[in-house]
Amino acid sequence: GDSGGDDTGGGDGGGDLISVGFAQVGAESGWRTANTTSIKDALTKEEGFDLKFSDAQQKQENQIQAIRSYIAQGVDYIAFSPVVESGWDAVLEEAKTADIPVILTDRAVDTEDDSLYVTFIGSDFVEEGRRIGAYVSETLATEPIKVVELQGTTGSAPAIDRKTGFEEATADNPNVEIIASQTGNFTRAEGKTVMEGFLQAYPDIDVVYAHNDDMGLGAIEAIEAAGKVPGEDIKIVTIDGVKDGMQALADGKITYIVECNPLLGPDLAEIIKTLDSGGTVEKRIVTKDEEFDQEAAKAALPDRQY
Ligand code: AHR
Repeated sequence: GDSGGDDTGGGDGGGDLISVGFAQVGAESGWRTANTTSIKDALTKEEGFDLKFSDAQQKQENQIQAIRSYIAQGVDYIAFSPVVESGWDAVLEEAKTADIPVILTDRAVDTEDDSLYVTFIGSDFVEEGRRIGAYVSETLATEPIKVVELQGTTGSAPAIDRKTGFEEATADNPNVEIIASQTGNFTRAEGKTVMEGFLQAYPDIDVVYAHNDDMGLGAIEAIEAAGKVPGEDIKIVTIDGVKDGMQALADGKITYIVECNPLLGPDLAEIIKTLDSGGTVEKRIVTKDEEFDQEAAKAALPDRQY
């Protein structure tokens, strides 16, 4: 409960549980839901944790408020996945003043003072964008193609980095033309709406590059509603590799997926245990991502956890 007793140094009632405040972005995508499940499954009482979890509904002010409340409660550790990159220095300084170590999971912050967090664990989003870009350039752009881009949440690390990586990897191929780029906020509904607009404005789209599966799945709905065949008339490439995305890939509606691994819970638990026993961890821990074409998706689907 929140009526005290959870102070640092072990607190009462919880034995020597490690208290962790986790400020999640929201529940915007299948990826995010899988990430939340992974964290909750790993940071259990049985494993020695007292997890306090909040969902910021994709609003930075909610996340800052959650972090402030974890500081006020005197948790042992704070972990969070910043909805956008910038604007965190003030609240992270408050955590530092309170001597509460901060662990960044999944997304980075943009700060000049890297003493404000202990470590950052998550995927290399620029690399994800590069891998999708390389696939598009080598496989889909043997002749001139028009690409539309569905960007993630404006100002978020994955949206910025996946755009950069894709542009880098396609820069030397004059056949790749990005004709429009707009945010769909990592959600299926907004991906659909933005794609409807693109389809009206541009009759000759060849490829959709969606920064996550959910927006790609929204784009499928818009393309089908416009009487076109996803995977044939318009090819779709996405990042994540959640079950619905992998199913659409196996069905031929999506053409290629670069994975973003959401299962960060076990690593987060291990990092905290290491720190708690006086150990040190790397400043940057990069998680491994695979990539899938349609055949690989069919093979992987039966064992896919999320
Ligand atoms: O930060 C990771 C991204 O956030 C995932 O790719 C996306 O699906 C999620 O919303």
